[in-house]
Amino acid sequence: MHLTAILIAIILFFVSVSMQAGSKGQKVTHMILRVFYILIIITGGILFSSAMAGTMAMQYGLKLLGGLFVISMMEMVLVRKEKSKSTGTLWVLFLIFLIFTIYMGFHLPLGMKFW
Ligand code: HEM
Repeated sequence: MHLTAILIAIILFFVSVSMQAGSKGQKVTHMILRVFYILIIITGGILFSSAMAGTMAMQYGLKLLGGLFVISMMEMVLVRKEKSKSTGTLWVLFLIFLIFTIYMGFHLPLGMKFW
């Protein structure tokens, strides 16, 4: 579930970014993307609460933080783009956090589970 929600969110993010800022399609995809943020946080939160007390608590904590940062960066890129402000630095941060979080996600014991 978590991974499926992430894949859909990332696709929505790129669709929304590639649309003209402020256009109707762009606003709609952004709204749907926000629903997926919530799904990611809920599914991640469930995984987290069932596993964080083990021996890898620290790594789970970092994974959670990384995930929240990725979501923040996606939202900030879109909001700043809608306001026609620069997004260069945010893109770099987005990529760094994304790579880190995906690495941590696959590195942790769950592996690759889509459902
Ligand atoms: C867009 C942001 C995020 C990305 C790209 C991401 C990426 C991933 C990936 C690739 C996995 C392993 C795949 C699988 O489900 O099998 C995973 C697992 C997990 N994620 Fe996320 N995640 C994000 C947000 C979050 C958030 C916000 C939380 C916490 C609230 C979280 C907590 C977890 C936990 C606890 C696991 C299970 C790790 C394990 O036991 O192996 N993630 N994540």
